[in-house]
Amino acid sequence: MKYSIKAGATNKINSDCIAVVVWNKGGLSEEAQLADKVGDKGISKIVRSEDFTGTLGQTHIVYNPIGLKSKRLLLIGGGESKKLDGKNAARMLTAGLKAVFASKAASAHFAIASLNVKDETPEWVCQRLSQEAETASYRYNTTKSTKSKAVRANLISVSPSKGARRKSLEEALKSGSAIGAGINRARHLGNLPGNICTPSYLADEATAIGSKHSSMKIKILGEKQMGRLKMGSLLSVSAGSAEEAKLIVMEYKGAKADSKPHVLVGKGVTFDTGGISLKGGGGMDEMKFDMCGAASVIGVMATVAQLKLPINIVGLVGAVENMPSSTATKPGDIVTSMAGKTIEVLNTDAEGRLVLCDVLTYAERYKPRSVIDIATLTGAAVATFGSHVSALLSNNDKLIEELIDCGKSSLDRVWPLPLWEEYQPLLNSNFADIANIGGPRAGTITAACFLSKFAEKFKWAHLDIAGSAWHSGAQKGATGRPVALLVEYLSQQKA
Ligand code: BES
Ligand code: MN
Ligand code: ZN
Repeated sequence: MKYSIKAGATNKINSDCIAVVVWNKGGLSEEAQLADKVGDKGISKIVRSEDFTGTLGQTHIVYNPIGLKSKRLLLIGGGESKKLDGKNAARMLTAGLKAVFASKAASAHFAIASLNVKDETPEWVCQRLSQEAETASYRYNTTKSTKSKAVRANLISVSPSKGARRKSLEEALKSGSAIGAGINRARHLGNLPGNICTPSYLADEATAIGSKHSSMKIKILGEKQMGRLKMGSLLSVSAGSAEEAKLIVMEYKGAKADSKPHVLVGKGVTFDTGGISLKGGGGMDEMKFDMCGAASVIGVMATVAQLKLPINIVGLVGAVENMPSSTATKPGDIVTSMAGKTIEVLNTDAEGRLVLCDVLTYAERYKPRSVIDIATLTGAAVATFGSHVSALLSNNDKLIEELIDCGKSSLDRVWPLPLWEEYQPLLNSNFADIANIGGPRAGTITAACFLSKFAEKFKWAHLDIAGSAWHSGAQKGATGRPVALLVEYLSQQKA
């Protein structure tokens, strides 16, 4: 998709489709007023008919509108103009884009210069528009014989808001499209089945991204190399699998070589059967999504390289498959982590933390400014938060505030849970330094408590995305979260 800023009166713009906003109860935006005036009061008539009243997200297409240089006039409902915050604006834009993509229009112009979004800038609107355009045009086709057609539209333009700099609006359109592409990449990796998206597949994906950017260096460590690093915890998860575990290292340099990086760590369990602590059969297919943390890291790395962010960033992915077999780790087995701590594996289904702890220890070598791990870690996070928000646990209060703020502006929200010492004894073991489960209560917190013991040397946050990473049911599919949040966070960092 191509994006541009196009100035000019709404009735002078050439495009296959011109979109204007109509407010709740038929109030017309400036652009809609002009289209109405040159168009024989056509919009007013539609609004009076009450077929279209401007409720948030409603759309209506008028063909061959009078007075416009366009085959289509798209009316987008904006709801109550006073209630137009970022969330509602995004809903409105998405509805408009979906209407464009459902039509055969090859181009569309959003005449929304007069739009005022509470607490957000015109740049935010442009960024959101291109991000939503990318994500709304994603189609999953890889394993289908009948492919759904790509959307016809390939050109989207926007009117510049008064007072905004054209250059910065153009930059915003570029950012949004790069973020949308990163989200789609993460979604696609998540959606691919476990027999295609293996640890090696994720490694190849990272390698392919690296080959496109001279600013990115990729290293792939196999089981032998991880053995030499004494990653006994991570390796215990893949012990039952025929697929080789991979540690994927993506080093992006946007600043001076010696500038300390921010590190992202992704849980990449390409399928989680539970291992010997086998999961029940119902819905187990969804455990192909247990690599969505990894997918988000890979998506973010592709996006930051495209955006040329002026900082150094390292993406680390622990990619494994958790299978039961005669070589699999058994409940009660004790493994030694790279940090030297022994771990009693009381439940082989609590495998994510076993993977992450060794990758967190690996992250120490970078002396990172911050480390954020992203993981579909606990069913308890789904029970606590449902799908709207990712759980956030951290050893740094400032980082918590920062991530909450980034979540708000990127509409990819996180919310904190306490990470208190009081929970730590739940992980006591009679036979090892620590147990890998803390019992049935406070599951998201005890999982983070476990990780915190391997994150003492840096500023760290853990995002449990078990509820937010994918949709179940008829709309089953990965969401690409929290790519938008992480790109927002990294965009705010300085070298
Ligand atoms: N990948 C799962 C967590 C999960 C479950 C995410 C369901 C989304 C939906 C994780 O590896 C797991 O199995 N966690 C266990 C931990 C328990 C054994 C302490 C869980 O949450 O049940
Ligand atoms: Mn599990
Ligand atoms: Zn898992």
